[in-house]
Formats: sequence, structure tokens, C-alpha cells
Amino acid sequence: MTEKRHIDRFPIWGVALCLLLVQCQSNNGDLPTKSVFEQSIEPEKTAVLTENVKTTPWKPLNLDGVHDPANAVLSYLQEPDEALSLLSVAPEPGGNNVDWVEALESGLISPRSKIQPDWKVNNLDLDIIMPNTAGMPQVVFPHRQHTEWLDCSNCHDKIFKAKTGANQFGMLEILQGEYCGRCHGAVSFPLTQCLRCHSRDHDQATLAK
Ligand code: HEC
Ligand code: HEC
Ligand code: HEC
Repeated sequence: MTEKRHIDRFPIWGVALCLLLVQCQSNNGDLPTKSVFEQSIEPEKTAVLTENVKTTPWKPLNLDGVHDPANAVLSYLQEPDEALSLLSVAPEPGGNNVDWVEALESGLISPRSKIQPDWKVNNLDLDIIMPNTAGMPQVVFPHRQHTEWLDCSNCHDKIFKAKTGANQFGMLEILQGEYCGRCHGAVSFPLTQCLRCHSRDHDQATLAK
């Protein structure tokens, strides 16, 4: 079950920060002539990817309801569509609409797994099934996808005791930002993407993906 390959791990905000840093560096007073993504992704790959993305869920900055459309400096910022459409689109809309799990696994992004050379990278391939989901499909918590981004200490034992069934919580606590909700809906995919967590039928047949 455990697969051996180069695995990178970095908190999701790290990715955003890196992008920002790369962008700032390349700015150097002048405006970049090429986007960060044009520079870092090989042309063949870009062509295939843009072809796959038929519709884009990303609003332009002047219409996103966050940025001031009257601010002239807006034109200096990279449009989300330009940057994010080169990555994998999430299975359900919401958040920044990127499937970061897929982006990592397909090698589109390759964040550093550690900063300190002597840091030990811990990965674990272990699914935990959480069956108390009433009428919804059961939840499968995958350690593999999490430990590709995070360290054990990000969750154990402050958020979760490392024992199956030892943590009693439901959707209410999650929606209030506890347990899974510490990250999901904040820095990882949003809580509206129900079926990414509720992915297992009660009769044991796993749903698509
Ligand atoms: C994103 C959060 C998260 C990360 C990161 C994480 N875990 Fe877990 N871990 C969980 C959850 C959730 C459970 C299930 C708890 C429950 O059932 O109440 C769990 C359960 C466990 C269990 C209990 C398994 C059993 O058979 O009872 C062990 C052992 C464990 N984790 C070890 C690790 C190790 C080692 C790492 C790092 C390589 C790690 N975990 C990383 C969230 C995490
Ligand atoms: C980040 C993962 C995640 C997402 C996203 C998610 N859930 Fe849950 N949900 C859980 C977990 C974990 C439980 C608790 C399972 C357990 O204790 O066995 C749960 C429990 C539930 C329950 C059982 C009753 C309760 O209150 O605990 C329902 C109903 C439910 N979720 C509905 C939804 C719906 C509807 C959505 C989308 C709007 C959703 N969930 C999104 C993880 C998630
Ligand atoms: C410490 C932060 C953190 C906590 C707590 C956390 N997650 Fe995650 N989760 C992530 C990150 C980061 C990813 C990978 C990037 C992304 O999809 O946003 C991820 C990915 C996942 C995936 C993989 C989806 C896929 O497409 O393969 C599932 C399923 C998931 N989380 C469910 C849960 C459930 C259920 C819980 C609570 C029991 C939970 N997570 C708690 C951070 C967290």
C-alpha cells in the first residue's frame, strides 16, 4: 500500500508565500514581462493544461468583491485565472478552486519538503474510516495525502489524539472551526466540498475517487 516516491510537504500558505516571494523577486522595481507560471512550467505542459481547462472558475480581480476596482495598482497584480488555471481544478467549486492534492501528485507543484536539512520527513499511508455520518456517506480520513503536506505534529496530539475513535466530534464542531475545520475551510479545501471527505458508502463500496 505504501508507495515510494519523492514526497514534498509544506503548509498550503507556504505555496502562496513562495508565489508571492518569487513574484516580488522577479519584480525588482520593473513589472514582470512574463508570469511566474510561464517561466516555471515547460511550454508543452502549459499547452496541454490550458486545453483541459474549458471554463475557468476564477473571477478577475476587479470583479472579485475583494479588490478595489478603482485602484490603478490592480493592473500590476497577476490575475488568478492566469496563475491558477495552470493547476488542477477542484472536483467541486469553492475556496480557490484548485485541487492542491492533484497538483502535488501530478508534479505540477513541487514544494520543498523541509527547510532544515536534519529535519526528519514523516509519511504515513493509513486511512481512518469515520462512520458516524447519519445519512451522508462515511468519511475516509487519509493520512497519506495529509502527510504529503503536513507533519504528524501539526495534528498529534493537539488537534487529534492518535487513536482511532478517541476523538469525539461531528459536523457542528467542524463547522465551528475545530478538528478538521481547523484547516478545511481555512487553508485547505472548503467544507462545502462535502464528498471529498464523505467519500465512502455505508455499504462499504467506495464512491468515485
Ligand atoms: C491532518 C491531521 C493528521 C496528521 C498530519 C496526522 N494524523 Fe494521525 N490521525 C489523524 C486523525 C484524524 C486520526 C483518527 C483519530 C480518530 O479516529 O479519532 C489519526 C489517527 C492516528 C493513529 C491511530 C491509528 C490507530 O490504529 O488507532 C496513529 C498511530 C497516527 N494517527 C499516527 C500519525 C503519524 C505517525 C503521523 C505522521 C506521519 C500522523 N498520524 C499525521 C490526523 C492526523
Ligand atoms: C473536512 C471533511 C468534511 C467535510 C468537507 C464535510 N464533512 Fe461532514 N463530517 C466529517 C466528519 C469527520 C464527521 C464525523 C464522522 C464521525 O464522527 O464518524 C462528519 C459528520 C457529518 C454528519 C453526521 C452528523 C453530524 O453532525 O456529525 C453529517 C450529516 C455531515 N457530516 C454532513 C456534511 C455535509 C452536508 C457536508 C457538506 C456541506 C459535509 N458534511 C462536509 C467531515 C467532513
Ligand atoms: C492541520 C490541517 C488539516 C486538518 C486538521 C485536516 N486536514 Fe484534511 N487536508 C489538509 C491539507 C493541507 C490537505 C491537502 C491540500 C488540500 O486539499 O487542501 C488535506 C486533504 C484532505 C483530503 C484529501 C482529498 C483528496 O482529494 O484526496 C481529505 C479527504 C481530507 N483532507 C479530509 C480531512 C478530514 C476528514 C479531517 C478531519 C478528520 C481533516 N482532513 C483534517 C489539511 C488538514
